Amino acid sequence: MRLDRFLSNLKYGTRSEIQKAIKRQLVLVNKTIIKSASFKIDPNIDEVVFNGEKVYYKESILIMLNKPSGYLSANKDGKEKTVFELIREPYSRFRLSIAGRLDKDTEGLLLLTNDGKLLHNIITPSKDVYKKYFVRVEKEFNNPKVLEGDYEILDGRDYLFKPLSPIIEKLNDYEFYLSIKEGKFHQVKRMVEHFNNKVIYLKRVQIGQIVLDESLKLGEYKEIIDYKI
Ligand code: URA
Repeated sequence: MRLDRFLSNLKYGTRSEIQKAIKRQLVLVNKTIIKSASFKIDPNIDEVVFNGEKVYYKESILIMLNKPSGYLSANKDGKEKTVFELIREPYSRFRLSIAGRLDKDTEGLLLLTNDGKLLHNIITPSKDVYKKYFVRVEKEFNNPKVLEGDYEILDGRDYLFKPLSPIIEKLNDYEFYLSIKEGKFHQVKRMVEHFNNKVIYLKRVQIGQIVLDESLKLGEYKEIIDYKI
């Protein structure tokens, strides 16, 4: 890959700003000053230094965020805070996508990745990746197992859908874990509403085999390296 493209992909500046930096001898590859913006590098192997800072790069990156309530799972929003505002360098330099959004008031495990294939594997329901939620409801719910039954609910976009093999683990009359494979708009809330109850607290605790690291405080994140979905 061209050096200037590599650096502009990582938001070090526009191609012309990077070309200027290269002319000013601010860019090193494997400790050698590079004079040409078209210099070819292998980002997986070569060490690039930009203005004294070692450039952090990975082809595939996966971040676990403990999402706090009050943040939108969206790239940009004029008024509201988004989860991307919680991510700092070097990860903020990557083009990260959210692998399964959470509502503004939902907390817990949010995965962010720059890897399209990984994203697809996490969010496509047919890939059989369960997403597990801790759910607290407003009214006593003696038998949340009914959520595993055979019923259809109206999706926010006016069509019916049938939850795919949900799994319930009851904790007490107000709290349970719910695992589902899909992530339709407000799905957990709608499933609970279907049984005339209301979610008052929702937290995602697991996606596939990736479990939220409870030592992360709300708003904290970490890169995960050795994982299986
Ligand atoms: N289901 C919901 O209703 N909300 C979420 O944030 C995630 C799943």
